[in-house]
Amino acid sequence: MVMYQAGAMGLLPTDKIDHQSPHPTPKKAETPAYGQYLVNLTGCNMCHGTNMKGGTSPDVESPPCPDISAGSAAGRWGAEGFVHVLRTGITPLGKELNPKFMPWREHGRLDDVQLRAIYAYLQTNE
Ligand code: HEC
Repeated sequence: MVMYQAGAMGLLPTDKIDHQSPHPTPKKAETPAYGQYLVNLTGCNMCHGTNMKGGTSPDVESPPCPDISAGSAAGRWGAEGFVHVLRTGITPLGKELNPKFMPWREHGRLDDVQLRAIYAYLQTNE
């Protein structure tokens, strides 16, 4: 339990505000602005591409990182469905996301507001 909490806390430094940063941290809310901030912070875009239209993982053994923008399959899951996938690693089509390549176990620990904000941001990427 203690280890889990320590791990969860060290995981996503969403509350470690960089006071040197010229960009202020957006207010925590289900907004695309906060979602975009989290996408940059957690590195979804490092794999899924700048506009989340798909990309290549730094891990050479990884399958391609799918398009998860508004026009993609994931873009139509709805916020509820999206949160469910990030929590369970299973898509509405029953596909299991490989946690070795898609770190859903870590990202699924983001809270509802954070995951919904990410979804709101994905919806702005046509
Ligand atoms: C290290 C690279 C990497 C990072 C970081 C990453 N992903 Fe992924 N993601 C993948 C890969 C690879 C897949 C495909 C996994 C598979 O086929 O098993 C995937 C699949 C997905 C899917 C399923 C898409 C579909 O249509 O099946 C969603 C949704 C997703 N990622 C969202 C995110 C979000 C949101 C973040 C950031 C919080 C994120 N990913 C961070 C590599 C990554």
